[in-house]
Amino acid sequence: MAETSTKGQTTNNNAPITVEVDTSYENDSSYGDELSSYTASLTSSVLEYRQENGRRYHGFRDGAYLLPNDETENDRLDMLHELCLRLLHRKLYLAPVKNPQRVIDLGTGTGIWAIEFADLHPQAEVIGCDLSPTQPSLVLPNVKFLVDDIESEWAYEGNPFDFIHARYLAVSIRDFPKLIKQFKPGGWVEFQDYDGYATSQDGSLNGTGLQRYYDEVLSAFEKAGYETRPGPKLERWFKDAGFVNVHVEKFVIPHGIWPKDKHLKDIGAWAQAGAEAAYEAGALAALTRYKNWTKEKVMLLASDARADGRKRNIHSLFYFYVVYGQRPEN
Ligand SMILES: C[S@@+](CC[C@H](N)C(=O)[O-])C[C@H]1O[C@@H](n2cnc3c(N)ncnc32)[C@H](O)[C@@H]1O
Repeated sequence: MAETSTKGQTTNNNAPITVEVDTSYENDSSYGDELSSYTASLTSSVLEYRQENGRRYHGFRDGAYLLPNDETENDRLDMLHELCLRLLHRKLYLAPVKNPQRVIDLGTGTGIWAIEFADLHPQAEVIGCDLSPTQPSLVLPNVKFLVDDIESEWAYEGNPFDFIHARYLAVSIRDFPKLIKQFKPGGWVEFQDYDGYATSQDGSLNGTGLQRYYDEVLSAFEKAGYETRPGPKLERWFKDAGFVNVHVEKFVIPHGIWPKDKHLKDIGAWAQAGAEAAYEAGALAALTRYKNWTKEKVMLLASDARADGRKRNIHSLFYFYVVYGQRPEN
């Protein structure tokens, strides 16, 4: 099982919190037993997953994230990892990181990025954190997974991270600027993310079931307060947080094999395969919880989107951004 941790309580103001000590433990040799029972209940609470409409969702901070955490979803995330590697010509990151010692992957998902990074940099201690403890338990000794809500107050003490990485947190996070402003000065920060709205350069997406899908689903996420288009805003957020050496790379992710260019055709094939697994996963909780849709209505929307997504004459694409920078020491 992945190691788990949660943060301390926070208050709305800066008043000190006095925590009274339970003195009944003094000279009590059963303290260790009681401590392990607390740890066990913490561990089981993060494993109390929500089951809803045939999918499984995270238990820790129930409701904070609207996509499932089941095997089907984990397969989709691993497929997306392969897509990102192909897009970046097999690079895990683009920032000029040198000899990293302490690294964190925010919203690590299946942990695949963290594991591959740790394999590439055996000297680095790599943390992957997520609401769900769904990462593999047998991993390299320099990788550790933590259960954490990254929208809570930043709880990572000690040396600053040499590299903070976050990929594909569109529709996951409500307040990106707050998250970014909490990072300590020092190392590199790299976010890789989408503009969640699909588009087409020739207007072929207009009026299709595929476009309706994105409009309905993303407006439900927006109603719930999530950021749906982080990609194009990352540069501004980094600069507003005082970052220097900010570098932006914008990529096209076509949907389907319609592009002429061989590389884009390959990316498009992976994107289409990922999308086929995402229509239902992306829409179910957002539309049933925030727009009161029935499961059946969501399935119809997803099925129309899937059908349109397979048409060669609909030239849909996403823009994807890799942005990295540093917060200066002083
Ligand atoms: C779309 S997945 C991306 C996973 C991974 N970064 C990748 O690129 O494969 C988003 C992940 O963020 C996690 N997540 C969402 N909100 C979170 C939060 N507030 N704190 C920690 N993790 C969060 C989800 O559980 C999910 O695993």
